Amino acid sequence: VMPLRAAAKAGRRRYGAAVSSELLGKDAGYRDLIRRECDIIVPEWEMKWYNIQKNPDRYDFSGCDKLAAFASENGMELRGHTLVWHLGLPDWAKTRLKEAQGRDVLHTWMNTLMTRYAGVVRSWDVVNEAVEPTDDRPDGLRESDWLAAFGTRYISDSFKMAAEIAPKAELVYNDYGTEHNARWSRDRRVAILRLLERVKGEGGRIDALGLQSHLRLGDPWDPKAFGEFLREVQDMGIKPIVTEMDVRADRASGDASAIDAKVADLYTSYLETVFANSRCDTVVTWGLTDRYTFQRRRYADDRPLPFDDDLNPKKAAAAVARIL
Ligand code: XIL
Repeated sequence: VMPLRAAAKAGRRRYGAAVSSELLGKDAGYRDLIRRECDIIVPEWEMKWYNIQKNPDRYDFSGCDKLAAFASENGMELRGHTLVWHLGLPDWAKTRLKEAQGRDVLHTWMNTLMTRYAGVVRSWDVVNEAVEPTDDRPDGLRESDWLAAFGTRYISDSFKMAAEIAPKAELVYNDYGTEHNARWSRDRRVAILRLLERVKGEGGRIDALGLQSHLRLGDPWDPKAFGEFLREVQDMGIKPIVTEMDVRADRASGDASAIDAKVADLYTSYLETVFANSRCDTVVTWGLTDRYTFQRRRYADDRPLPFDDDLNPKKAAAAVARIL
């Protein structure tokens, strides 16, 4: 199988994966695989606020700095993930955001990160997972510490701040659950479109919509409705990109090789739909090898990624190489 990095280049796209600085340091085979396959790396863990600033008076950039150095040494881009996320807040910040100086706390955090990594990060997940439609909120926004502290304008305010700090960066709104054939997913699509429109209306700039793309075999998805959604997003001048793809198999039956074939088919049909309905030029998977995948915390035998436990390409790698 052609390295995904090379396959992507031939298709004028880019491929990347979420990685861990600790694993890059201790697993040479993994490190070589990432080098061979990726144009882009994303910190799976290190760049979340609770990891960088556990206490207000101490920053720990060690993990992110290692990833930034690794990216630079290997001619890769580091994606910034993630600045404003309801699950990313350290406990101290939850309180501080609500105080009078709350905006300064947000600004300091964004400015510190975006400035430090300005040389190697050109695409930032500015806001992550801000919608969670319920019957109580017609705007579909998630009840979170962010919403409680700043009200609904926190999203456009974050994008405005980001644009001021890093005017040339690609600013991304990132979210999940937009591809299913179910009411909850349709509601998410509607809420995300509203969010994108609102940010624009309030003077914020969003360049790209990150589609997390955590898929699962057996979940009915809806290529037609998803494709229409992608076209609407693209028509707003916002480019869909794939930011966290993997394919869970916890409900699928069959042996490993049968599962691998189904996983590969879903990679193909999903990415085909994305490419057919948008100008998506970036595909990032949430990990690269089944040896290290966060999905195994839920299901120990899961095989969601393009490479297997022995770092060999699976059918999914061939599928992604073909389609990129
Ligand atoms: C997950 C990581 O994989 C875990 O290691 C971490 O403990 C929690 O976050 N959507 C996202 C990612 O945007 O940041 C999440 O990553 C997975 C779901």
